Amino acid sequence: MLPQGVAIDSRTGIVSPSTTVYEKRLSEFRGVYSDTAALDALIASKGDLVTYTVSERKDPGTDIFFGTTVMQPGRVGEEYFMTRGHFHARRDRGEIYYTQSGEGLLLLQSRDGEIRTVEMKPGVCASIPPDWGHRSINTGTEPLVFVWCCNQDAGHDYAEIATRGMRQLVVQRGGMTAYVANPKYEA
Ligand code: F6R
Ligand code: ZN
Repeated sequence: MLPQGVAIDSRTGIVSPSTTVYEKRLSEFRGVYSDTAALDALIASKGDLVTYTVSERKDPGTDIFFGTTVMQPGRVGEEYFMTRGHFHARRDRGEIYYTQSGEGLLLLQSRDGEIRTVEMKPGVCASIPPDWGHRSINTGTEPLVFVWCCNQDAGHDYAEIATRGMRQLVVQRGGMTAYVANPKYEA
């Protein structure tokens, strides 16, 4: 591998050339958003929208890789559009998230259920410590674009968050962003 520069579009966040690009659509989030009726109603009225796009650049011959996530603005019921959320499969691997545009929240949760948030706004680079679950949430009205970088061998462990979600939900209530306890987590 030789040193190189890879372009990241300042508006769309698309990495070029990328090695993998994938999209996540509303229909893949049944059971992730708390309000299933609102999810079904949104799909019925607006179609199966793409809520985020991940564009990765992974090169052989090095230990790290990077990419971007572009999250669209929107809500399912009260809950803002968000990523699935995951821990890393390797418990000793952290990550950084550098926000390029838009505004949002990085919701983090330790294995014993402690919750922390880091504001996502241009110029903020969030440091995700090893073994903290992380989910990004677009609380704004524009796409939220962030660059992430971690070890190639970090891997994803989606199971825990998929099963009972994170301890808190991030919602819009009365025009304000609010945190509410997730009943499914406490059950
Ligand atoms: C990689 C990482 C990001 C996310 C991406 C989508 O470790 O944290 O690339 O994978 O933002 O989020 P998930 O994977 O939670 O759907
Ligand atoms: Zn991660």
